[in-house]
Parts: sequence; structure tokens; C-alpha cells
Amino acid sequence: MDTGEFRRLWNEIEPIGRADSGGYLRFSWTEADLELRQWFHTQAKRRGLRYEEDRNGNLYAWWDAAKEQVIDPDAPHPHGAVLTGSHFDSVPHGGAYDGPLGIVSGFLAIDALRSAGAEPKRPIGIAAFTEEEGGRFGVPCLGSRLMTGAIDPERARALTDPDGTTLAEAMNAAGAEPDLIGPDPERLQRIAAFIELHIEQGRALDGGESPVAVASAIWPHGRWRVTFTGVADHAGTTRLPDRRDPMLTFAFAVLAARKEARLAGGVATVGRVEAEPNATNAIASTVTAWLDVRAPDEAVLSEILSGFESKVTERAGRDGTEVAMSAESESPIVEFDADLRERVAELLGGAPVVPTAAGHDAGVLSAHVPTAMLFVRNPTGVSHAPGEAASDEDCAAGAAALAAVLRDLAC
Ligand code: GLV
Ligand code: MN
Ligand code: MN
Ligand code: MN
Repeated sequence: MDTGEFRRLWNEIEPIGRADSGGYLRFSWTEADLELRQWFHTQAKRRGLRYEEDRNGNLYAWWDAAKEQVIDPDAPHPHGAVLTGSHFDSVPHGGAYDGPLGIVSGFLAIDALRSAGAEPKRPIGIAAFTEEEGGRFGVPCLGSRLMTGAIDPERARALTDPDGTTLAEAMNAAGAEPDLIGPDPERLQRIAAFIELHIEQGRALDGGESPVAVASAIWPHGRWRVTFTGVADHAGTTRLPDRRDPMLTFAFAVLAARKEARLAGGVATVGRVEAEPNATNAIASTVTAWLDVRAPDEAVLSEILSGFESKVTERAGRDGTEVAMSAESESPIVEFDADLRERVAELLGGAPVVPTAAGHDAGVLSAHVPTAMLFVRNPTGVSHAPGEAASDEDCAAGAAALAAVLRDLAC
């Protein structure tokens, strides 16, 4: 595939939602998101693909088979579609590629298959899943979780963004129908395989031969909201022994999370925090922090969490504060379909097979349909930040690899 084709399509979405930081503010159901959705619709129309929006706000562009053929009558989905795609939304000031690269590559792959004269024997679809990052409403992979029934729609409707707007309100404001969200088993049954192409989020491929890798597994991970409650008081006149300062317990908790993760062999991050009343000259009344923990297996994840909880509870006792922890999302370990993974890696000339500690819609879908992921080399290794990078050559190679996989599975 020629890099010019990638660049031309990429240039169309690159400015949408870009902030002065060089990062992106592409949150679900905001102006930027609606512009990206419109772009997706235009791309589908331009190619004569059938456009669809499901009840959960996920978008599809379908290249239907002229005449459906049964490829493998013993397969669980003999007529099922091969779906590719990813997400448009970003974390606050996230990189350009995380998500959109998988969608753009889907359109380029279909273009390449058509120029090569390929004909699908089963439908090939491109999906854009909504709110994959949880960057606005807190729960990652919300669109795919809703579709697969992994989150209660009542809970989803009531999720709030940092301004207190609920998902239901945001969907209504964007002209979508929140009353309809929820499991969509019939749609899921029509999918025979899902292939998500994604920017690599580390440097496993840097310096190597291959611009593309295949994912083996996703580390189990989750997000917890931790609320520290104390007593607000004057910053000058309250004697140190009289204070019940939740900021102290919070500070201890950040260090404890790191220590427990290091000892057990996982990672833990506190990247978001809010203090009330957030005044320079007052002791805080509450501090709310979001804890993100990931580990190579479930046992290590539980070890980190239980160590964290007991150390922080003990510390709160000494500080005269209270601490409460609630899970916002939990994502079990994912082992991608072994047959599909091997088939894809072999097709791509023995591409490296690597695990990841990042979450994806592919992880959610893998509990229901055979799923594989392709990673495109990232020379900086940075992700969820403006420094995320990929060369046009590698992006074009990624789209060509995706085209080869779609052809193998569907044509
Ligand atoms: C999603 O990209 C995540 O891993 O947080
Ligand atoms: Mn991400
Ligand atoms: Mn992503
Ligand atoms: Mn005063």
C-alpha cells in the first residue's frame, strides 16, 4: 500500500479534536466525536458501504457479500461477518493513533482489497466503538460492554462525566436514544471474527524487522474510585495534631499503590485526583482519586489490591480519616483465540506475538467471538499522551497487513 493513500485519509481526521497541547480531546458525544462520526458516515457512503448505527452508539460500515457462501459449515458462524475497527475517542490530551488508526486502516484495507479485485464471501465490516477509553464517563469499552451485556444499561445511563452530565443526557443532547442501550446478542451472533488493528503502546517492535505484531493476551486490569474523607479546617490555625487531613492519607495511598505493584510484579497508577473544596488555605474535606491497576495475572492483581487496601485503611486510622473504595470497571485476563492468532501471525510472515497491558474493545469481544489484534510499531513507545507516534510507512504496512488478514478470513 502506498503511504500517500494513508496520509490523504489520515489528514482528513488529524485536526479533529486536537488541542494546543498537541494531544486530543475526543470525548464521546461531544462536538469532536460527532464530527468524527460524520466523517465515518461520509467514508462509508463514498465507498458504497452500508452504514449502520447500533442501539449503543457504535457505528458500522459494511461491505456485504454479493452472494453469501458457506466457508466452513462446521464453524459456529458459517455466514458470520468479519469485523475490524476500533474507536475514535481519546483520553484527555491523548495521542492521535490510539483508536482512529484501526478505523482508518479498515477503510484502507477495503480499498486495497477492492483494487486487487477481491470479493467477500461473507460480510466485511468496519466498526467504531463508542467511549472505549472511558475518558468522559469513566468506564472503558462502554460501547462494546453494552453490546455484549457486560454492563447494566441502567448503570451506564447514570454514569456521569466530570461536569455531572449523565450518559443519558449526553446521548439525548447528541440526538441519540439512551433508552435503547443494552445487550445486542443478535448483532453479536452475526460476527464470526473481530480483528482490531491498534497502535503499539510500548516499544516491543522498535529496532526490529517487523512493523506489525500480533497480540497474545491482555493483562487483567481495573479502575477503582478511592474516596478519602476528613474534616475541612483552617490551614493556619488548626494545630497539626488536631487535623484530620484526607490529603495525607491520599499521599500515602499513591506511594502504597506503587510499592504494592512493584513488590507483586504489576503496575498501579493514580492519574486523576479531585480535592474538595480545593482551596490553598483550607485543609481538604475530601479527596477522590482514581486508581488504575494492571497485572500479568489475576492473582497478582488481587495481591496488589488487597495489599493497597489494608495499608491505606491502616493509615487512615492513624490520620483520623476514612477511606472507601469502589470498582468502576474490572477487565479479566484475555487470551486471544489461539487458532486465529497463529493463522494471522503465520499469514504475516511470522510477525512477533506480544502481550499488552492496555485494554481494548477486542478484549471485551473476545469473550464472545474469535478475536485477534494487530499492533503497528510505535517508535516512541508513548501512548495516552501527545508523544504517541507511528511512521506513515508503518501505518500503510499495518493497513496492508489488515487487508491480507481480511482477505484470508472473508474472501
Ligand atoms: C485503554 O486504552 C486502556 O488501557 O486504558
Ligand atoms: Mn487507549
Ligand atoms: Mn485504544
Ligand atoms: Mn480568613
